[in-house]
Amino acid sequence: MTATTRTRTQVAVVGAGPAGLLLTHLLARAGVESVAVEVRSRREIEETHRAGILEQESVDVLVESGVSDRVLRDGYRHDGIELAFGGTGHRIDFQGLVGASTQLYPQTDVFVDLADARARDGGDVRFGVTEVSVHDVESETPRVLFTDPDGVAHELVADVVVGADGSRSHCRAQVPETARRQYFREYPFAWFGILTEAPPSAPELIYNHSPQGFALISSRTETLQRMYFQCDPAENPDDWSDDRIWSELQGRLGANGYTLKEGPITSRSVLPFRSFVQEPMHHGRLVLAGDAAHTVPPTGAKGLNLALADVRVLAEELERVIGKGDAAPLETYSERALGRVWKTQHFSYWMTTMLHTLPDASPFDVRRQEGELALLSSSVAGSTYLAEAYTGWPGAR
Ligand code: PHB
Repeated sequence: MTATTRTRTQVAVVGAGPAGLLLTHLLARAGVESVAVEVRSRREIEETHRAGILEQESVDVLVESGVSDRVLRDGYRHDGIELAFGGTGHRIDFQGLVGASTQLYPQTDVFVDLADARARDGGDVRFGVTEVSVHDVESETPRVLFTDPDGVAHELVADVVVGADGSRSHCRAQVPETARRQYFREYPFAWFGILTEAPPSAPELIYNHSPQGFALISSRTETLQRMYFQCDPAENPDDWSDDRIWSELQGRLGANGYTLKEGPITSRSVLPFRSFVQEPMHHGRLVLAGDAAHTVPPTGAKGLNLALADVRVLAEELERVIGKGDAAPLETYSERALGRVWKTQHFSYWMTTMLHTLPDASPFDVRRQEGELALLSSSVAGSTYLAEAYTGWPGAR
């Protein structure tokens, strides 16, 4: 393909989801030029439902770097969670234990704030492009080719290419097999997720363990609630009537003394569970960030937070690469980011296996899980471990 338009930039970013957009925002503030390209339209991204919990430092980076303070105005601060098991609820008090909170603020709103901030600041973000391909990552001038929505072919020539192109990343396949390690874990269950037009059933999130399986009661606004229950990965959402969904959720929550407020169900889908890491997170002048490099199961809502943590470290290290010709900081980025990635992999795996019921679980397995939950919630050391990991380790470490 012959490129008709050639642009020189310092950092070419593939993917303009929250990770790609926050990176270009932070780079612009540091005086580094970038162009981001994204195959989806702005609208398509805005219509994707993702998790809704931000760690304290994810909130801080949005506010302090001048993206927006809407997260503080429209979000809801949560100072703890309920762990429900063995017939009753047990509160984990984040403020009391570690002096930190989380913010309930959907990923879609994070994306909107970032896209608006890039538009406000004159950032170069191209949505709805096609035929994106990455070339020459082992050279000093890696390139990204793409076709714009009008069918015009473009070439971006950069100092560094960042793959922030999500869990089905094409960029990560640019790292030769001999230069990468991939780690996977599958789970024998999934989440059935719904949105319902109803008032909140509880002031904080409920992580509900029950012999019938896990359920999570989350929220979006005063009138829209997000709930999930553990299901078979092969479950078809269309086989579930509203009544059947409510009876499943009420049964699981009822086991621990809760009653949910019901309303019309406006969205239903099955979310797969997977743990994945590709190491290292760089090759030549290509680096990976966010879901392109790693996936966590959704229990604990770490996916977006981990992506934003990658980008905070990456922005710092890229400032050192640009204009100096030395690519060593890309290796430093990978090492620094992977430290947090593996701690988060452990946390997400641990929350998942502690709270979900395996399809072949024996009564022993269920009682042992209740023992673990009791140990955790009745011990200051145990609760502090959970509170610290859930609200996020400080300093992007
Ligand atoms: C959500 O609100 O979508 C959510 C909250 C907490 C989780 C996972 C998902 O652990």
